[in-house]
Amino acid sequence: MPLVSFHDVQKTYRSLQGVDYPALEHFSIDIEVGEFFCLLGPSGCGKTTVLKMLAGFETPTAGRILMDGRPVTSASRDRGVVFQGDDSLYGWLNAVENVEFGLRMRRVSRAERRERAMRFLELVGLRGQEQKYPAELSGGMKQRIQIARVLANEPKMLLMDEPFAALDAQTRSLMQLELANIWRATRTTVLFITHDIDEAVTLGKRIGVMRAGPRSQVKGVVEVSLNGARSRTDDAFLRYYKAVYEMIRDEVAKSLARAD
Ligand SMILES: Nc1ncnc2c1ncn2[C@@H]1O[C@H](COP(=O)(O)OP(=O)(O)O)[C@@H](O)[C@H]1O
Ligand SMILES: [Mg+2]
Repeated sequence: MPLVSFHDVQKTYRSLQGVDYPALEHFSIDIEVGEFFCLLGPSGCGKTTVLKMLAGFETPTAGRILMDGRPVTSASRDRGVVFQGDDSLYGWLNAVENVEFGLRMRRVSRAERRERAMRFLELVGLRGQEQKYPAELSGGMKQRIQIARVLANEPKMLLMDEPFAALDAQTRSLMQLELANIWRATRTTVLFITHDIDEAVTLGKRIGVMRAGPRSQVKGVVEVSLNGARSRTDDAFLRYYKAVYEMIRDEVAKSLARAD
């Protein structure tokens, strides 16, 4: 049984004054336990909508979303969300206190939460930075703290919505490498959303390519059989890049045409 399945999901945003917007229709995917699934699509196609429904922040208009065979009805610690920007940290807490926050809310003992927070800070490469406040940290570091904070709650899966989009190119590459290492170390199931083909091929075990909206759905799924470190200049990497590019090219063109 897959960990997550979307069955024929439809999402229509209701408008109070204008016309309703059918963002998704007949949207179906399965995500297996332990897999790194990338959802790729042009801007505005409905990627964030998919993530929000799985997180439990939005409800589908029709269709079913199951996790472990049970319908998703509300937000849960099982599904840890890493947001796009880096402003979700508490500015008045230092790095380790930010990571401990969820554990403190769950009344995990002081010693245990500190031990766990330090372990996850180390995992994201922030050992030695634990006393710093968000304002003293770079965008990449703040994004790592977010990841550590979510991982410290030991969710069944991570939901990431273009988490590195705001970082400069070098930091982004570094974060991709680190995330790949974290995934190999923890084997947490990941749904990773991006509009960047390169990022999807760098990270994904499978890549679901979405159509342009409205009524977006999955156009196809590309399985990436590359193991270990992936290099952008390898022939195999380029073959996957081309396969995904061929699939998404028309969708990007459509979404640009609609934006005119
Ligand atoms: N709360 C909302 N009300 C109305 N329309 C929305 C709302 N949220 C998103 N949309 C529309 O749904 C479509 C998909 O949005 P979104 O899921 O954010 O796309 P993506 O993340 O792929 O850029 C867009 O056309 C967007 O304008
Ligand atoms: Mg989005």
